[in-house]
Amino acid sequence: GKTILITGVASGIGARTAELAGQLGADVIGVDLREPAGHQGVFVQADISSKAGVDDLVARLPQRIDALCNVAGLSGNTGAAPTLAVNFYGLRALSEAMAPRLREGGAIVNVASIAGYGWRANLNRAASMVSVDGFPDVAKVIAEHAVKNEEGYPVSKELLLLWTFRAAHQELFRSHGIRVNAVSPGPVETPILKQFRSVLGDAKVDSDIARVGRAGTSGDIAPVVLFLCSDGARWINGANVPVDGGLEASINAEVL
Ligand code: NAI
Repeated sequence: GKTILITGVASGIGARTAELAGQLGADVIGVDLREPAGHQGVFVQADISSKAGVDDLVARLPQRIDALCNVAGLSGNTGAAPTLAVNFYGLRALSEAMAPRLREGGAIVNVASIAGYGWRANLNRAASMVSVDGFPDVAKVIAEHAVKNEEGYPVSKELLLLWTFRAAHQELFRSHGIRVNAVSPGPVETPILKQFRSVLGDAKVDSDIARVGRAGTSGDIAPVVLFLCSDGARWINGANVPVDGGLEASINAEVL
């Protein structure tokens, strides 16, 4: 089977993606802050919020993998710095370190969010923050770009989407035939949704859910993540796939 590295396997979307990958016959290497009960396959405990944490993780990962699913993320309710560190700079550092270990034709899938769709409106800031190489001093980047605490989450996903488009064409990945894509969920019933409710307010979250009839589940997202890892998606590169029950379309359609 294929070897799939998945971050954020202790909860929600990452846990379901790991479970489904195992059912489909993949060898799963799960990464998270703590080992989840019932995790099938190899588990590697790690904290991707710092350069040291990512370096330590990379040192304990195998030399060959077929796919990397960047699912781990923070809601923003612990501040902009840790959120940008985990949701963008940490996962990018992990992806860049693993690029030489991904097999030819392998894939990276980034779980972004519909919250990142402001990347176009905020293009200058987002592009400038993506251009900071390596794993920077995140507090410094935040100060330089005047990112407010409550902007940490949406900005992290804006950077992730922009970087997905860029990475798909970047020599580091392209020379290895590695595809890089994103999945952008709408509201999904996982522990993080409670935190979004406290940041965004129940009214906003409930009205988004009402637009499409229900919240998503981890089971709605996981198959799409794994499809983008698969050879069936071999001609999909640098794409963002919204998995939101039609939420974004319904918002866009209002301007017609
Ligand atoms: P969750 O909170 O259930 O799971 C996130 C996992 O990431 C947790 O197991 C957590 O321990 C892990 N994690 C956090 N910081 C870490 C670190 N420093 N190192 C290693 N692992 C770390 O949330 P959920 O819903 O499964 O979220 C997965 C991804 O989906 C996130 O990137 C989130 O932003 C994204 N997303 C979720 C939506 C939702 O409504 N649930 C909507 C849009 C995007």
